[in-house]
Amino acid sequence: MAASIRLFCKQMSAIHKLPVSSKLLQGYRLSALIGAHRRSFRLQGYLCNGEYEWEDPKSEADVVNITYVDRQGERHQVRGKVGDNVMYLAHRYNIEMEGACEASLACSTCHVYVKDEYFNKLPEPDEKEEDMLDMAPFLKENSRLGCQIILRKELDGIEVTLPKATRNFYVDGHVPQPH
Ligand code: FES
Repeated sequence: MAASIRLFCKQMSAIHKLPVSSKLLQGYRLSALIGAHRRSFRLQGYLCNGEYEWEDPKSEADVVNITYVDRQGERHQVRGKVGDNVMYLAHRYNIEMEGACEASLACSTCHVYVKDEYFNKLPEPDEKEEDMLDMAPFLKENSRLGCQIILRKELDGIEVTLPKATRNFYVDGHVPQPH
C-alpha cells in the first residue's frame, strides 16, 4: 500500500507540477486520496469526475497508450495520458464499461481483465477493491476494477478486456449513462 501512495504522490506531482509528499499522506487509503483529489478539483471549479479524461495529452511524454477489448472481442486503441482513470477514459471513447457507483468502490460493474505483463505492474488492490471483486461474475486471476486503475507511464501499452457480463444493480437491465 505504501508503494501505491508513493505512486499517487508521483502522479499528483506530475499533474500539478508541485511536490506532493508521501509522508504527509501516510495512513490514508489510496481510493480515499483519489476521491479527495477529485472532490477538491470540483470544489475549486476545475474538473468533475471523468472530466480530466476528456483532456488530450499535453505532450508525448504524457501519453499512455491503452487497448480496450470489448465484449464482442473488438479492440479499441486509445491514446490516454498519465493520471487518466481507465473507467472514465473508456466512457470518453464510448466503450461499454458501466461504472455504476462512479468509482466509489460500491459495485463491480467496471470489472476488467488486465493483460498479465501489466497486471503485475499495478499497485496491489486494497481490501475494499478485493471485496467488490469477490462479487464480480467471471472473476479471474487477472481481474481488477477499471475505476481503480490510474494510468502512468510504466503502463504504456496496457490492455484491458471486458468480461462477458457484469452484475448490474438494475432488475430491468438498465445501464446508467456516464455523466
Ligand atoms: S465503478 Fe463501482 S467500483 Fe468501479
